[in-house]
Amino acid sequence: MDAEAWPFPVRPLTPRLGAELSVDLGDGLDEGLFRAIYRAFLRFQVLLFPPQDLPPGRQVAFARRFGEVQVHVMNQYHADGFPELYRLSNLDQNGRPSGRHPDKGTLAWHTDGSWQRVTGQATIIYGEVMPGRGGETHFCDMYGAYERLDERWKARIGDLRAVHNLDFSRNRRHGEDPLTEEQRRARPPVDHPVVRTHPETGRKCLFLGDHAEYIVGMPYAEGRALIEELNALAVQPDLSYEHRWRTRELIVWDNRCVLHRATPFDEANEGRVIRRCTVLGEAPA
Ligand SMILES: [Fe+2]
Repeated sequence: MDAEAWPFPVRPLTPRLGAELSVDLGDGLDEGLFRAIYRAFLRFQVLLFPPQDLPPGRQVAFARRFGEVQVHVMNQYHADGFPELYRLSNLDQNGRPSGRHPDKGTLAWHTDGSWQRVTGQATIIYGEVMPGRGGETHFCDMYGAYERLDERWKARIGDLRAVHNLDFSRNRRHGEDPLTEEQRRARPPVDHPVVRTHPETGRKCLFLGDHAEYIVGMPYAEGRALIEELNALAVQPDLSYEHRWRTRELIVWDNRCVLHRATPFDEANEGRVIRRCTVLGEAPA
């Protein structure tokens, strides 16, 4: 049991990661309350807020408390007049399911923004419309993934760097809606340590996921195999939390120490609409 004192009810979602905080975010948060939320964010890695009305402006304002909010390079997704908000929807102009998944890349385990020099800190998602089945979000604890590697693994990967590349991950998973030349030039591949130290908790974690393409200084195929092996080793049921959404919930997670993915749903017959923003963190070290 968590012995810490919190100024709001806290319900852990698994023994390892995730907690539901019963906080109404619509009232404006004083500094003390926000600091407690942030402490819970570092402690639990994934925060769930129960269903509530959270208009786009409030979501962006809440995100700004965490840090600088990213304006995504793929500007076709900007929503509600806020360039910081990224809407993923399968509904057409008439509000009917289009049969097209808005971003198949989210179905593979990844960490947001790892294809940038400054990677994602918090991702903050509000569920506007959720399907009756599927469309879940799964999370996996990358502190735990690193800690359970044996000493040989830790010695082998301790100094490695991986190149992360949005163009690679997107084209590999699906050929749809590829990056434009301009978007590609704006986001060249970057390299990050395979094992990073969380800048606020000081704990080590594995930092790979689906955007990681190859290992610096290693033959391409060998690096690919190593990344695939580590990504498979990293994701374990007892390190994971699988979230089945109710509409109007808000979830916040720490991309520095968590991988996540979405599960498929029937995009021809059911709607799924989320509003997302990502707060920028720092260059991993
Ligand atoms: Fe994501």
